[in-house]
Amino acid sequence: MKQNWWRSAYKQNHLVFKLGISILFVGFGFRLLFSQSPSVIPDVSDNNIDTPVAEKNVKPIPLDVSESPKIELNHIHPKDDGSEKCDILDGEWVPYSRGAPYTNNTCRWIESHQNCMGNGRPDTGYINWRWSPKSCELPRFDAKKFLETMRDKSWAFVGDSITRNHLQSFICLLSEVEDAVELFHDKDYKNRKWQFPSYNLTVSVIWSPFLAKADIFEDIDGVSSSEIELHIDILDKTWTEQFHTWDYVLFSSGKWFIKTAIYFEENTILGCHGCEGKNFTDLGFNFAYRKIIKNLYDFIMNSKKQSTIIFRTSTPDHFENGSWSTGGTCDRRVPAKEGEFELTDLNINLREIELPEFEKAEARASEKGKKLKLLDVMPLSLVRPDGHPGPYRHFYPFAKDKKAKVQYDCLHWCLPGPIDQWNDLLMKLVVDD
Ligand SMILES: *[C@@H]1O[C@H](CO)[C@@H](O)[C@H](O)[C@H]1NC(C)=O
Ligand SMILES: *[C@@H]1O[C@H](CO)[C@@H](O)[C@H](O)[C@H]1NC(C)=O
Ligand SMILES: *[C@@H]1O[C@H](CO)[C@@H](O)[C@H](O)[C@H]1NC(C)=O
Ligand SMILES: *[C@@H]1O[C@H](CO)[C@@H](O)[C@H](O)[C@H]1NC(C)=O
Repeated sequence: MKQNWWRSAYKQNHLVFKLGISILFVGFGFRLLFSQSPSVIPDVSDNNIDTPVAEKNVKPIPLDVSESPKIELNHIHPKDDGSEKCDILDGEWVPYSRGAPYTNNTCRWIESHQNCMGNGRPDTGYINWRWSPKSCELPRFDAKKFLETMRDKSWAFVGDSITRNHLQSFICLLSEVEDAVELFHDKDYKNRKWQFPSYNLTVSVIWSPFLAKADIFEDIDGVSSSEIELHIDILDKTWTEQFHTWDYVLFSSGKWFIKTAIYFEENTILGCHGCEGKNFTDLGFNFAYRKIIKNLYDFIMNSKKQSTIIFRTSTPDHFENGSWSTGGTCDRRVPAKEGEFELTDLNINLREIELPEFEKAEARASEKGKKLKLLDVMPLSLVRPDGHPGPYRHFYPFAKDKKAKVQYDCLHWCLPGPIDQWNDLLMKLVVDD
């Protein structure tokens, strides 16, 4: 019943959603949320703020929770194999006085845009909560045990700016035991590699927001000069070429797919997403996302390398009283109650692809003896509207003017913050289970 209702709700909203999204991103900068140049120096200038979308007379992106239909937050429940496995995702946030394992003072790997403490966020209550599953305990990330287990191993995080956000949390948690040594970074700090020397553990982050070959015509601030050209049949060699060197790979993607793009298959234009004014078929981004996720799993299944693969689901944002470009904010200081935030149309569309495709791949993986795991961060993240940088994406945003109009980031996560507990889940998935 639930499932059917969920699917039909998806269908009804699909058209509206597609139009809303596709109109929005035509030639639009879309800078704040997706460019995320990992500036190492605190970003004190506000000149990379977009003109509000309203001026372009387009429908705002339906990221505003008030516009969303009521949708059940489905997730994949543990298999009922008689072993009474706990459903780790069925739980709530409970007060926890011990706070975060690291701070902006103890971890030197926090990028300025997510360094909420360092950027002057005055409250710290958001670090004093723990995810508490209803019928079992989720242990905290045990960095020492993790490092011991991962001796001589190599890890990679492949994806977009939220992937990098997650990776920083991972590096910070481990650095409490032994500070990471950076082995490599590219000029934009989007591809990096670290080592934990005493454990001979290496950790890479790979910038590949579509996971597939994409020609992106954007500068470092995310200003776009032409549509993205996305090859839906070719995976991104930035990661495929290194795949055989990794023991553990975490993939995630999603949000970039709503950008205007021309889709190529066999180097021929197949259609597009959001390219009004051009004589191409609008295929919708779901089409490309599903195709690429399928290709990703095919690649994994056909690879000789027996890595452990983790797929992380896409994440929620929490803009209230507006969208990211129309003055939306996230001023809450405590977690939301269950049901207070519903999945947005975008999240529904992405999950509609992520969960079924994972389940199909999981069946293939078990036949082939491959290790494939789902890191579903949606249920616990959805109720943490208090965990985003908001205005504290910038260094002391109200220092000069208490009433300054600052664009909020209600998508990425403060470090430390609730995102650290994605790694509690990760530890459980790869070390304890
Ligand atoms: C960390 O944040 C505090 C404010 O919460 C600030 O006083 C301190 O200078 C910051 N440290 C670093 C290294 O940025
Ligand atoms: C470190 O780990 C790699 C495998 O990731 C291995 O090839 C190498 O020999 C190890 N180095 C040492 C010093 O043990
Ligand atoms: C659009 O493409 C179709 C089929 O490729 C073609 O028949 C039509 O003439 C094109 N229209 C314009 C305005 O170019
Ligand atoms: C946002 O809207 C809610 C009601 O929808 C209201 O209670 C709250 O005060 C508003 N917040 C801001 C910052 O305007």
